[in-house]
Formats: sequence, structure tokens, C-alpha cells
Amino acid sequence: MKFFLDTADVEEIRDLNDTGLVDGVTTNPSLIMKSGRDIIEVTREICSIVDGPVSAEVTATDYNGMIEEAAVLAKIADNICIKLPLTMEGLKACKTLSSRGQQTNVTLCFSANQALLAAKAGATYISPFIGRLDDLGLDGMEVIEEIRTIYDNYDFKTQILAASVRTVNHVKDAALIGADVATIPPSTMHKLVKHMLTDAGLSAFLADWEKTGQKIG
Ligand code: E4P
Repeated sequence: MKFFLDTADVEEIRDLNDTGLVDGVTTNPSLIMKSGRDIIEVTREICSIVDGPVSAEVTATDYNGMIEEAAVLAKIADNICIKLPLTMEGLKACKTLSSRGQQTNVTLCFSANQALLAAKAGATYISPFIGRLDDLGLDGMEVIEEIRTIYDNYDFKTQILAASVRTVNHVKDAALIGADVATIPPSTMHKLVKHMLTDAGLSAFLADWEKTGQKIG
């Protein structure tokens, strides 16, 4: 499973990218707003840190506007992935951009049928929003499961990118189902490594080691 970071915070990206665990980044207009920076400038910096795909989202809602904005965003770097909303106009733009060899990420997906359309439009990634479905008392993971089955039934190459991840269990459950990617907020990424028995075990080992008076090397 690939891990993308779901943030436009370059300090967090730089820090976590150094672990070697980061395969890409996703941004959206809200994350750009949170960064307080210019979209082109901050996206260029992210692309210089991370080798993998960096999703940058269009804000136009009509086909022509999306294609124009995609051209501007695609010029930022070779690893830009154009993020498009799951609307008819967005799917049309996805078809055009994908047929030109541009990486695409269809976002704001909340159903298996929407994901089926995105795959038919040639999307590189489909982003089902798990957390926002769970917030409504629906089952985000069930949608991931349905998409996995449909994509496997027809051998669609579109990659399932589990988005709106809120908990470590979202990551585990998406991995169990076979989502190709999870885009994870930095705070959740830090939680993935944590286990109280790891901390307690390490403390005990270090305390015993101290008693031996030895040093390695
Ligand atoms: C990423 O591609 C999505 O835009 C993001 O995961 C949405 O997350 P949220 O529901 O926490 O805003």
C-alpha cells in the first residue's frame, strides 16, 4: 500500500519524507488555505521535496476552465497529478487529460457508482472520502470494499486512494480491503508507529542494558 501525505504543510512533508515512507502528497483548496501560501509556490516546493505524485486540485467547475487550470498546474512540475471533482464536467476533463497522459485524481467520491464512472473516464486515482461518510453515520469502508470488487471485476487500472482518513483503523481497514493508496494527515501518520507495548518494551530493554555497563562499538 502506498502512503500519501494529506497536507500542504511543507515542514511536515519534509520531516515525514525523510522517513522514506512517503509515496506522494495530496492537497485540496482547504489545505492550501490552511497553509496560508500561494498555490503555485507551495505546490512547487512540495514537488521539489517528494518524488511521487503531488495532487493539485482545479477550482473551475466547467470543462474549459478545468482544462485551462490543469495546464497551469501541470507546468509546476513533472510529478503533478491533476485533481478533479466528481461531476460530469470533471469526468469529461478527466477523460481528456488522461488520454493526454496526464496523471489524474478524481476527488469527492462518495459512492461505488461514482468510482465506476471515474474508472471509465481513465482516472489514475479515485478518492473515496471515508471520514466524511462515517461522519454521517454511513460506512466509508463499505464503499472502499465495493469499489475494490467492481474494479477487480473489470480489471480497471484506476487506483483506489482512500481519502478523508481520520484514524489509524481507517488505514488498517483500507489496507485489509486492498486499497492501493491511503492519503494520511501527518498527525495520523505519527500515530501509526505508536504502541504502548513498544514504548514499555524499549524502556525495559534500555534499563537492563544500562545495568550491563556495556557499549556497542
Ligand atoms: C484528499 O485528497 C482529500 O481532499 C482529503 O483527504 C479530505 O479530507 P477531509 O475530509 O478530512 O477534509
